[in-house]
Amino acid sequence: MENGSSRQATMTELQEVQITEERPLLPGQTPEMAKTHSVETPYGSVTFTVYGTPKPKRPAILTYHDVGLNYKSCFQPLFQSGDMQEIIQNFVRVHVNAPGMEEGAPVYPVGYQYPSLDQLADTIPCILQYLNFSSIIGVGVGAGAYILSRYALNHQDTVEGLVLINIDPNAKGWMDWAAHKLTGLTSSIPEMILGHLFSQEELSGNSELIQKYRNIITHAPNIENIELYWNSYNNRRDLNFERGGDITLKCPVMLVVGDQAPHEDAVVECNSKLDPTQTSFLKMADSGGQPQLTQPGKLTEAFKYFLQGMGYMASSCMTRLSRSRTASLTSAASIDGSRSRTRTLSQSSESGTLPSGTPGHTMEVSC
Ligand code: BEZ
Repeated sequence: MENGSSRQATMTELQEVQITEERPLLPGQTPEMAKTHSVETPYGSVTFTVYGTPKPKRPAILTYHDVGLNYKSCFQPLFQSGDMQEIIQNFVRVHVNAPGMEEGAPVYPVGYQYPSLDQLADTIPCILQYLNFSSIIGVGVGAGAYILSRYALNHQDTVEGLVLINIDPNAKGWMDWAAHKLTGLTSSIPEMILGHLFSQEELSGNSELIQKYRNIITHAPNIENIELYWNSYNNRRDLNFERGGDITLKCPVMLVVGDQAPHEDAVVECNSKLDPTQTSFLKMADSGGQPQLTQPGKLTEAFKYFLQGMGYMASSCMTRLSRSRTASLTSAASIDGSRSRTRTLSQSSESGTLPSGTPGHTMEVSC
């Protein structure tokens, strides 16, 4: 791996595009600029879009999307949801596109050596150095959650918190490979990726959301690039998390998964390997495989408590948001899955008690 200064020297090509995003404005709000940048890294060019302006003494929120998606198709519903505005106005956001996933990306030539997930994690310092940002709160889904975890293991001092949706920290075992090969005999790449993103129940239900994402992935002009990211995901190494061991996430972590989502067991196992004093586990009912798409309001609420637990977002700033959710969120505190007591998240916030400040919780969010 190269050090920071030689990495900087490789940033030969920088492109910037200024876009004003279309989004309904809240009363008194001015439109936020989105600026897209490309930075050369040892593993090729990486494109990312920055929303908002840096806030003194606050980390940037940095997102990394899953396979088959880009930052918009993965995160737009969450970051543009109504209640999220109150949170994100306090943070600059950096939305990274995995190489070749940005809109209009050219298709890589046959034989192109696509970076491994570990190498993608190694491109993050180039982005932060270019932006002159020193710390982040990472929000990742699937492959993106793995990449941010790997980055956090290598650069713990720069990661203040992690929201990991659908993380599978394990390399594929031989049984998984056999199953993967068998599925590959009868399924196309888009179908396999849809099966990674959504539950079988959701796929057969064929809701509007599923139709939309099936359409996006099936007709993606960069499907060859998507297949390369998919291969990197399937070839990932084990993160080797070990409870009480040296290889662990030291920052506050919020693990999120939909119940009956394809990665539910992997996230449950991941929870068992992380430090219970730093980890909250949010299992969301009726959210399918992509809670950030199907339940952005519920996830925003949990994110708010997570940030409050880290000392951001004074609860006085959040009164409207908290009250608007009073009836809809419940949590169950548990140690290693054994539920011991229940309470409402919104009651906790109004009394100033922060669920993520008392980590090691399982929150089961029913909708
Ligand atoms: C944001 O405001 O951070 C955002 C806007 C559109 C898509 C994704 C994120």
